[in-house]
Order: sequence, then C-alpha cells, then structure tokens
Amino acid sequence: MSWKTLDDLDLAGKVVLTRVDLNVPMQDGAVSDATRIERIVPTVRDILAAGGTPVLLAHFGRPKGKVVADMSLEQIVSTVEEHLGVPVRFASDCIGAPVKDALADLPDGGVVLAENTRFHPGEEQNDADFAKALAEGGDIYCNDAFSAAHRAHASTEGLARLLPSCAGRLMAEELGALQAVLGDPPRPVVAVVGGAKVSTKLDLLGNLIDRMDHIVIGGGMANTFLAAQGIDVGKSLCEHDMTDTARAIMDKANGSGCTLHLPVDVVVAREFKAGAESETVAANACPEDAMILDAGPETVRAVAELFGQAKAVVWNGPLGAFEIEPFHAATKAAALTVAELTREGRLVSVAGGGDTVAALNISGAADHFTYVSSAGGAFLEWLEGKTLPGVAALG
Ligand code: 3PG
Ligand code: MG
Repeated sequence: MSWKTLDDLDLAGKVVLTRVDLNVPMQDGAVSDATRIERIVPTVRDILAAGGTPVLLAHFGRPKGKVVADMSLEQIVSTVEEHLGVPVRFASDCIGAPVKDALADLPDGGVVLAENTRFHPGEEQNDADFAKALAEGGDIYCNDAFSAAHRAHASTEGLARLLPSCAGRLMAEELGALQAVLGDPPRPVVAVVGGAKVSTKLDLLGNLIDRMDHIVIGGGMANTFLAAQGIDVGKSLCEHDMTDTARAIMDKANGSGCTLHLPVDVVVAREFKAGAESETVAANACPEDAMILDAGPETVRAVAELFGQAKAVVWNGPLGAFEIEPFHAATKAAALTVAELTREGRLVSVAGGGDTVAALNISGAADHFTYVSSAGGAFLEWLEGKTLPGVAALG
C-alpha cells in the first residue's frame, strides 16, 4: 500500500487539518507523559516550514458525543505550546466559526488546536455531514495519528475522502517500523507476546505464527499454555476454558515452522504483592497453593540466546507481573538484552501495544529499541493483520 506524504503536496498558504493523537495521560490536572505530544513535533514543524498552517484535530478520552468539561483539550494547550515551541491558539470547537476565528487571530508561524472531536456524536459515527463540516475548516488533510488509526471516525477516516490527503511524519515512521519487522523482516525474526490472557491475543498469535520464526510466550497467558500441556499451575492466573484453543495454536505453529517458546522455569509466590516471598521452580512444579508471577532465570537465559541469533524482534506485552517487584525481573532482563543487541547493530527491534511501553520504560530498555510505537490498540490490530481504517483511507 502506498500513500502521499507531506512532501507530495503543496502546502504553501494552505490550512492543513492535521489529525494527531493527544490522548495523553493526566495526573492532578497536568500531563503526566508527554510522549505523544513530542512525537507530533516533526509533522507540525514541516507543515510550518512548507508555508502551511496546521489546525490540530484530536480526541481526548471518551466523552461519547457530548461536551464533557474534564475532557476539554484546552487543559493541555500550554503543554502542547511548550513542546511545539510555537504559539498555539485554542479553538473552542473543531468545526465552524471557532476554527476560522482562531485562524484569523493566529500569529505567523502559529498553530491552532481545536477542541475534542469526540464532543460531536458525528465523530465516532463517521457521519458524512460532520466530516464535511470538519473539511470546511481547511484545505488539506494530514493524518499523523497512527495510534487512533484503528478507529473509523470522521477525523481519522471520513476526512481523507473529502480533502487531498497525506500521512504525517509520525504515521509514516510507525508504518515503516511495523513494515520492517512484519513485512519482509531479516530472519530469524522473533516475537515476544506477553500479557494476562490468551483470549485477547488469539488473532494476534494466529497472524504472527504465519510470519515469525519464533514466538516467546510470557505473562499470565503462558500459564494457559502450560495447563494445555497437562501441567498443574496451582493458583496461577489461567484461562482453563482456553486450553483447547492453546493446543490448537501449538498445532498450528508446529505445522507452519514457527517455534513457540514457553517458560522452562517460573517464579512463584503465595501472595501477589510487592516484595512477596518468592521462589524459582521448574515450569511443571508450581506448588498447588502458589501462583506463577514471572518467568525464571533459566527461561531468561534461553530467551537471551534466541535473541542472540535473531535479526529482528517484535515485542508486545510483559513476561511477568512487571508492575510489582520482584516480578518485573524477567521482562527487565530480556528487554535489556534486546536493547543491548540493538545498540550493537545486531538486530532490529520494535515494541508497542498496551502495557508494553510501560514495562520497557520500567526496565530502562525502551530508549535503545529501534522503535517504540506510540500506539496501544492500533499496534495490536496491526499485529493481528487487520487493515486499519485510518491507514486504508490514505491509500
Ligand atoms: C489510544 O489512546 O489508544 C488512542 O488514542 C485511541 O483511543 P480510544 O481507545 O479511546 O479510541
Ligand atoms: Mg485505546
């Protein structure tokens, strides 16, 4: 699939409706992680450099088609301004006069940030009239919100059909990184798939089995695979009703030349709390009153060896209960190995989706991966092999 970039359109004197993802976490009224804001800087800078005026369109939370004061984008204007380093004017609505007024009032080199698109019911309904009203605010559409591209909404999908459209820098970078590990990756290619439940990762595993040489399974979902092999996992988190499915996944992998790797040893405890007393046992020796909370050191050694032979790694999900010490140890050690091999230029590594970035940040490994996606759900859907409506509409 191919799409236009900012370099393919003449932006001089044009108002560029730029869909970004500013759905940033907040704590006590302040932005607690500005990563998503930092990542839109190249697109905004390049639009301004080409003589265009960016009008930023974004959602914030899930207001469900109503105005919800807590979910106003006005509260992040100063943070956006600080990161962009140019004047930002807020428009109190994403359609109609407020956008025009903000543009009229805009100093040279400035940017308009429009109010939460999801305050309008037409946004999530991808309503044609609402999309038209949005389109009237500008001349060109640039989608830089890969992390919202799994939503077929007016500002992520509908607009692309109404205006000359292109992908922003972040969108292009995200797609390039995913292409590098999933398109035609250097081999062997290894996926790390962790997280609590197999049931939420069925499509993902099904798709990755066809594309990966190895899949390392970690987190709570590994327990379900152990149980599927007849192993007693004690009080561990385990989807006992999914063991047939887990067996079918193992059979499919067997038949397609993809090797699944389960933990060979595990860290178990009687309590799920920080500093709980724990011990390391073989994966088939979880005491009946204990639960598996992390992969053990033998598993980490085996995984590190696998990474040492790999040319590409795609990482989604933690290997253990990483939020609680000491059960972050396997995730941390394995992620640091990938970081080190990446730094040495020996492999390409891409991570994203759900808890992944938080887990890699705790370990300090994220900085040295080749690419860490800003996307949660969109990254997962891409790993599932789905077509993202926001991406398809640009094609
Ligand atoms: C995200 O935070 O994952 C994106 O901004 C999409 O948000 P949504 O899950 O509310 O659509
Ligand atoms: Mg989401």
